[in-house]
This record gives sequence, C-alpha cells and structure tokens, in this order.
Amino acid sequence: MVVRVATVAFEGIEAKPVDVQVQISSGNVFFGVVGLGDKAVAESRERVRAALTASGLALPARRIVVNLAPADMPKEGSHYDLPIALGVMAAIGAIPADALAGFTVLGELALDGAIAAVAGALPAAVAANARGHGLICPAASGSEAAWASSDIEILAPASLIQLVNHFSGAQVLSRPRPAMRAPASGVPDLRDIKGQEGARRALEIAAAGGHNLLMNGPPGAGKSMLAQRLPSILPPLSPRELLEVSMVHSVAGALAGGELTDRRPFRAPHHSASMAALVGGGVSARPGEVSLAHHGVLFLDELPEFHPQALDGLRQPIETGEVAIARANHRVVYPARFQLVAAMNPCRCGHATEPGYACKRQPNARCMAQYAARLSGPLLDRFDLAIEVGAVTAADLIAPAPSEESAAVAERVAAARARQRKRYDALGLPGVSTNAAAPASAVEEVARPAGDGLRLLREAAERMRLSARGYHRTLKLARTLADLDGAEAVARVHLAEALSYRPREDGAAAAA
Ligand SMILES: Nc1ncnc2c1ncn2[C@@H]1O[C@H](COP(=O)(O)OP(=O)(O)O)[C@@H](O)[C@H]1O
Ligand SMILES: [Mg+2]
Repeated sequence: MVVRVATVAFEGIEAKPVDVQVQISSGNVFFGVVGLGDKAVAESRERVRAALTASGLALPARRIVVNLAPADMPKEGSHYDLPIALGVMAAIGAIPADALAGFTVLGELALDGAIAAVAGALPAAVAANARGHGLICPAASGSEAAWASSDIEILAPASLIQLVNHFSGAQVLSRPRPAMRAPASGVPDLRDIKGQEGARRALEIAAAGGHNLLMNGPPGAGKSMLAQRLPSILPPLSPRELLEVSMVHSVAGALAGGELTDRRPFRAPHHSASMAALVGGGVSARPGEVSLAHHGVLFLDELPEFHPQALDGLRQPIETGEVAIARANHRVVYPARFQLVAAMNPCRCGHATEPGYACKRQPNARCMAQYAARLSGPLLDRFDLAIEVGAVTAADLIAPAPSEESAAVAERVAAARARQRKRYDALGLPGVSTNAAAPASAVEEVARPAGDGLRLLREAAERMRLSARGYHRTLKLARTLADLDGAEAVARVHLAEALSYRPREDGAAAAA
C-alpha cells in the first residue's frame, strides 16, 4: 500500500506541490528516501527514525521506501521530515489512514519528537489554501501561516504526540491566531538632525516617489544619520505589499516569532557583503538583501567600499524589480523592488570637498576621481537623486533652528503617495504604487512637461548627455516633485529641480 502526503517545494517565494509517497513492503529491512533531495532531505531519515522511536513508535522491520514526486524537481530543506514521518505513521496505522487527506504538511523534526519551526510556512499556507487544503505546520510557524486566509484549517502541533492525540480526539488542537508585531517605539526621528536643509528635502523627495538616493559628503556630516531616519517618513505597507514582503521574509526564515509587521523593511548590509548575500543564491537558494528589502529600503553605507562585482549585481534588480538566480538545473526568481539609498565620502581621506583641505598624496580632484571610479557609470546612472551633504556648520550645531519632526514630513509624503497610487490605478497599473516603479511608457504620458518645460528638458538632455534611462528617471523625479506640490502637470520648476539632482560621473550632483 502506498500512503500519499501533500507537501511543498519552494521555488522563489512560490510553494510548488510535492507528493510524499510512502510504501512499506516485505523484503530486507531498509529505509530510504528518493526523489532528488539535497543533503538535508537525505538526513531526514535519521531524524524521522529517532523522532518516531522517541514518540513510542518503532519503525517496522520491513522495507520502507519514500518517494518525493515529481522526481525531477530538486527538493531543498528540512521541512520534509514531518510529511515523511506522518506518511510512515499512516502506513503503520498510528494515525487514521484518511486523517491526512486534504492537508498540506511541512515541518522539521527534532530527535525527541518535537516539531521545529521551518522557513516558508506562509507561502506554503497560501499554496495550500489555493488547492483547497488545510495546513499542518510546526507550532512556532502557526501564527505566520494563519495570515494566509481566515478560513484555512491549520493544525500547529508542537510534537508528534500532540498530533496523534489530536487525530484520536484525546486533545484537540486549536487554530493558531495571526500575530502582528507591536509597532516599534524609539524609531530615530528627523527632529534630531540639525541644519542639512537640502539633504532633508532630498530625503523627503526620495521617500515620496520611492527614488534611489546617493549622498556624498565628508565623514561626520550626518549621512548615515539621515538614511536611518528614512523609515520614519515612509508610509506603512499596504495589505497587498505586506503579504508579498512577508512571503519573502518567511522563505528566508526571517519572520521573528511568526509575527508580521506593516513597517517597510530597512536593510543595511555591511560593505563586506558578498554577491550571494546581497543578491541571493549560495549553497541553498535564499533571498538576498535586495529581496529582503522588497517594498522597502536597501541602504548601502560607504558605497565605494563594496565589492564592485556585488554592486554591479544590483543593476539588474534595480531595473526589473526582481532577481533571477541561476541554480544547477533550474532558475529561481525572487521579487526585489527596493529603494536604493547610498552614502559615500568624496575621497578616501574623506575631506577633499572641505574648503582649505589639501590631500597630502595628490591633488584633491585626483583623489576624488580615483575614489569615485570604484563606482561604475551604469550604477551611478540608476540614482535619481545625487546630493552633496556638506559638513554641519558650527552655527547649526550650537544654536540650531528647530527642525521639523518626522511626523509632519510623513504626512506630505503620504499625500504625494496617495496621488501616485490613484493615478496608476486609473491607468490600469494596480501593481505600481510609486513614480519610481512606473514603466517608461506610463511616465512619458503622466510626466509630459508643459510648454517651456519641454524646451528646458531638450536643452538639458543635450547638454548633460542624458541617457534614455537618465531621461526617464528625470521625468519620474519631476513627476514626484509635482506630486509633492499637489500640481496636476509637471512644470518647468519641477524639471529644473529634478535635473539639478542628476548624478555626474564622479558621483556628485550635476548642479552641486
Ligand atoms: N546634522 C547633524 N545634526 C546633529 N548631529 C549630527 C549631524 N551630523 C552629524 N551629527 C553627529 O555626528 C555623528 C556621525 O554622523 P554620521 O551620520 O555617522 O556621519 P556620516 O555618516 O556622514 O559620516 C552622529 O551620530 C551625530 O551625533
Ligand atoms: Mg556614515
């Protein structure tokens, strides 16, 4: 007899159905798993054997073959333990044969029969719900799975014994509740920043339209400080974005306690990060920082210190909003629509732009050019705003004018974003919520400048040798400036300001 248990394999953030087939037959004593599993799947045999013994269920001294179908799809991870164990238990009659019908199962086993948390419970629950299945998952993943739908049946046992008791009716498991992380208090606020009016304005624009921002300035000017305050002015995730973001974090095993949050992700990897850590991939397919920053912010501090190869790996996801990772015999795609914020010093010594400073090794300009050359032109071209952040003046530090709070800025940002969402909904682009994410064709329509704005754009495009990408990015930025203004059409002032933020080859702003 063959027992079948439904489980899943992850491809990107999608959970593909996998069938665990367990057959117990007479023959030599044997327990084997086939079906293109990785090392974790092969080792699952030992965990299943130990967990069953610890739960008072010895494996029968017969031939047990487990097949993971379809056999040509690679299976990675430890979540096959539970479906394999339940398949064996059903085959030996420890649980009713029909108990598992209509359930998708995933979970890792400990040697003592406890069921340990696994990555990907949320996408698995979404897939199970789509098939009309319920879900059996570890207790620790239950509250995350419960987000998939309010009427999907979820069993989240802490051990094999609990599940046996549930099926026998001795102790019925209750449905886990969806958990939301309490809003974090003590988020850094823009109020702490003295002076830096220009940089604050750029931060507000970047937040309003989801634009990529590059800050260039001497050490201690407050660049890192500014970037860390960006989350405080970004609007919360919409329900649709919340689900997408949580799916990525679930697959990465990064949903702490199975709790979801509507705060936008803010990822700040160190500059020693490898290509695999940034973009994704590695030994087992995992989303990288670009995907963990989906619908949020990826902050790269000290940009020129990153491995040039890792930085150039960012170019494709910036354009397409997703990242494709080639594996041995297949390809996985993770969403990666993030806003890139970067900070850099003007040169290695850091002070080249300060008045009166002379580099000891070479002329200032050469020192700066050498440092900026670590960034490729195509990467620089992908920043919509490049600004100079000068050192804070002593006057600003000692007797500062009162700074605006994040809450006030967040209100203007939210109003500008509401305008964008309404516009792109009306255009039949419901997946687009910011100007930065709008396709080029839509931008040409919604950001067409009126009258003399067009002439300014034509002249500037020639003089600054704007690439086609640079041209579209300028239009998008101008559209955001108009949205912040509450203006219907993009005017000459908006274009002029947008052009002033275009990056030059050396990383500085065009007009700076
Ligand atoms: N504009 C500012 N207002 C208040 N404090 C500032 C400002 N700029 C810098 N500082 C102080 O200097 C420290 C270093 O700033 P930081 O953001 O790390 O500089 P950068 O990243 O530009 O090198 C901050 O922790 C803060 O104490
Ligand atoms: Mg810094």
